[in-house]
Amino acid sequence: MRTCCIHPSILSADFVNLQSELQRIKTADAVHVDVMDNSFVPNLTLGLPVVRRIQMVSPVPLDVHLMIDDADRWAPEYAAAGAASVTFHAEAARAPIRLARELRSGGAGAGMALRPATAVEPYLDMLCELDMLLIMTVEPGFGGQSFLDVTLPKIRRAAEAVRGAGLPVAIQVDGGITEETIVRAAEAGATVFVAGSSVYGVEDPEAAIAGLRRAAG
Ligand code: DX5
Ligand code: ZN
Repeated sequence: MRTCCIHPSILSADFVNLQSELQRIKTADAVHVDVMDNSFVPNLTLGLPVVRRIQMVSPVPLDVHLMIDDADRWAPEYAAAGAASVTFHAEAARAPIRLARELRSGGAGAGMALRPATAVEPYLDMLCELDMLLIMTVEPGFGGQSFLDVTLPKIRRAAEAVRGAGLPVAIQVDGGITEETIVRAAEAGATVFVAGSSVYGVEDPEAAIAGLRRAAG
């Protein structure tokens, strides 16, 4: 994996033109697909049938972010759909270790996400079960929110734990990532950056991706 990965979020793309929207981010490392169920978060987006179609036409791998209840039931279905990585929320999983193992055996990278107010400490011993830890830098549910600086110490602690244990776990951040906030997130130890409005909300998404890469250093 590169030291800095940019994953544009299609939440800010034009949902009626997903195929052409995907062609606009060919230089990204992956496309971040936000699945919401109007229960775990107060918003509803898309589900398995749409993700299966995205998988068929996307020029880059899929990074699926599940903001849904009953992750144990649904996450493996997204691995079976061919996603490169599937991230479930720790708050929505009954058996996160079992689920992470199931994702890996289903051929996907296993990701686990934490809401801004969820502590990382209870999960440090299971980092070896994960390929990616997602530290949410906004409350999940909507694009276009402001980066929460209060999450920076948690990013730092997670990155230190990963480094200390010598594990190949990526630290992903999601929410409010711009050329300004990415600097702080990268400095705290994040390596994978999700960006919705700062990529799809501008004229030239590829230029925005390059700008984010440059800013992350
Ligand atoms: C929010 C989603 C994010 C969202 C980020 O709950 O998980 O992936 O698309 O959007 P921006 O980058 O606009 O904050
Ligand atoms: Zn997301």
